[in-house]
Amino acid sequence: MWARLTIGIIVLVIKVRSGEVAEWRQQREKAVDALFHQQEAAWGVEVLQQAASQGNLDAQSDLTLAHLLGIGVTQDIAGAAASSSSLVSVGGARAHTTQALLLSHNLTGSSLTQQERQNQAVSHYLLAAINKDPLAQIMVGGHYWSGGDCEAALQYLRRAATTVADTVSDEAKSRTPPRYIWDEDDTTLMTYQIPSLDEFQFLEYSAMTGDHEAALRAAIILYKGVPDVGYDPVRAAEYLRQAAEANITTAMVMLAAMHLHNTVTPDRDDTLDLLQTALAFGDKTAHTYLGLLYLKGYGDVPKNLGKAKKHLQQGIKMGSVEAFYLLGKLYEDPDSSGSVEEAMMMWEVSAMFGHVPSAFKVAENYWQKMTKTAFTVVKDSTSALAENWCHKALPLYRMTALSGSWQYLQEAAYDDYRRGLYSSALLKYLLLSDMGYTSAHVNAGRLLDSGVTGVYSSVEAAQSEALKVWQRAADAGVAAGQLRLGDMYYYGQGVPLDVIAAAQHYSDAAKMGSAQGMFNMANMKEWGQGVSQNITNARMLYEAALEASPDAYVPVGLALFRMNLLLAVNSTLGLDIYATNWLPRKRSNLFSSLDALLPAWDVALMVVLTIVIVVMVTTGRYRR
Ligand SMILES: *[C@@H]1O[C@H](CO)[C@@H](O)[C@H](O)[C@H]1NC(C)=O
Ligand SMILES: *[C@@H]1O[C@H](CO)[C@@H](O)[C@H](O)[C@H]1NC(C)=O
Ligand SMILES: *[C@@H]1O[C@H](CO)[C@@H](O)[C@H](O)[C@H]1NC(C)=O
Ligand SMILES: *[C@@H]1O[C@H](CO)[C@@H](O)[C@H](O)[C@H]1NC(C)=O
Repeated sequence: MWARLTIGIIVLVIKVRSGEVAEWRQQREKAVDALFHQQEAAWGVEVLQQAASQGNLDAQSDLTLAHLLGIGVTQDIAGAAASSSSLVSVGGARAHTTQALLLSHNLTGSSLTQQERQNQAVSHYLLAAINKDPLAQIMVGGHYWSGGDCEAALQYLRRAATTVADTVSDEAKSRTPPRYIWDEDDTTLMTYQIPSLDEFQFLEYSAMTGDHEAALRAAIILYKGVPDVGYDPVRAAEYLRQAAEANITTAMVMLAAMHLHNTVTPDRDDTLDLLQTALAFGDKTAHTYLGLLYLKGYGDVPKNLGKAKKHLQQGIKMGSVEAFYLLGKLYEDPDSSGSVEEAMMMWEVSAMFGHVPSAFKVAENYWQKMTKTAFTVVKDSTSALAENWCHKALPLYRMTALSGSWQYLQEAAYDDYRRGLYSSALLKYLLLSDMGYTSAHVNAGRLLDSGVTGVYSSVEAAQSEALKVWQRAADAGVAAGQLRLGDMYYYGQGVPLDVIAAAQHYSDAAKMGSAQGMFNMANMKEWGQGVSQNITNARMLYEAALEASPDAYVPVGLALFRMNLLLAVNSTLGLDIYATNWLPRKRSNLFSSLDALLPAWDVALMVVLTIVIVVMVTTGRYRR
């Protein structure tokens, strides 16, 4: 009897404990996810700190990353390095991620070579990835992918993508994508069309006084969740209701869509009515949502696949990406006459337009094909096929994985930058760059170049990091990356000076349509640097730069003026300045007019030469 009682108590204790464990796991997931969202990060840190103070290793590990990146807490790189290096020996997935990040960016203060640091980083990422850290899974996937091992890359990226696909809602992509400081291909700070709090409050005021268009705009802002205003679908729905009553069809469709996506609880049972009214007013965007409504049935309206199909086909005619996705879902429905193959055809289209749930479905389809062929007898012919499927699936899994919450770290980095927390911004961008976000390469690069972060004590260390991220930007097809690499080779920053390599990068930038690239290339051709001199070609390139960007008017005008002048000097005085080597060279920046005028010797030389020529011509006249 005692034995039974004891067993009973033990079972009870285990039950209570496992209940606690499940509860904590959920709580932790929420807290860790909150870390990636600027407004919720402080709450996430608080939850984790409580658990950490009770000795929870996972929570302690999660906090090391928060300290390293400065999310929800003040950044403390040295502290993060110290605690993560002691935590990695006792477990905790995220501590490995933190260590790996520190190692790969030369922040551990150790004297290891770059190769040794990279190897250690990869093994830390591997341990973290196996312990289910999706950030590390993305890193390891990228590592195998760049090493050419598609299948290994797929294993890890698929795991990360599955985590994301389980949480991402069908409508998540309508949220505003995160902002970043610098545009991929612009050298100036981005100016955003995002409304300020004042502008939003003015819209609210106008809406209150009966401006229904203003109500619609206020609703869109609240629904998109712009940084200063916040995401508030309930208030958005209220404004949409106001605009819908004034017969604004966009508001009717948006409100109905929010009902159908379960974003808000409907205030009235009129979802079908809203869409039909909008359609009657001629708003064809209603088709897609009518399709969604009939696809599943909604409220009192029963499911009707025939009607759903008709509306979705109309939606596709209107170019709605979501209509492709939904028609795929319809074909997948066992009640429809469609097939999985037909569904896939639809999803391949919507995936191409960046629709994440479609991308995941298509990738999973390739994955299933691969796993099936893995068991067939004829290996050789199928392995090529499997490799092909792998290459198709990988970018789709990657796209899904990169749409996870962590993408909002870019928003936090932008905010850090605005508040002058440059090193917090840099560490976030470095993490995101390692994960493969193109805009993060550019932003990390510009922050490193600006030298304001204070993260690296030596110029060489900062330049070596900058070289890495700019190389990635260039590989991702960003002209700004090629341009910056060109400059680094031209001036010998972080690499040995090499004008031939510089010319190659400028030429690649020019081929991508970059005006600055054309201008720099024209300059190289004019002076015969890294390429053989060709004045005709230089002139053509200067003119092409002007055509590509009318803003380049002043610098191109100056450059052509100088070129003509130097040619005139050559033909009149017989002095070929191009053949001399004593002029210091500096690239001018097309988009900053001050900088364009700055190569001071250039201007000074032009003034002197103009005077010489004028004097020559006038004295020549006197003599005649
Ligand atoms: C909305 O349209 C209906 C039907 O055309 C019309 O009866 C009603 O007056 C309109 N309401 C407003 C506020 O314009
Ligand atoms: C790494 O950082 C150290 C200083 O902490 C520096 O001496 C070294 O040059 C850096 N390595 C690279 C590859 O930049
Ligand atoms: C200079 O460039 C032009 C135009 O690209 C080309 O037709 C010409 O052959 C080049 N001249 C020399 C000497 O390479
Ligand atoms: C300068 O003049 C010489 C002699 O006329 C000529 O050979 C040379 O090509 C000229 N240089 C340029 C850049 O046009």
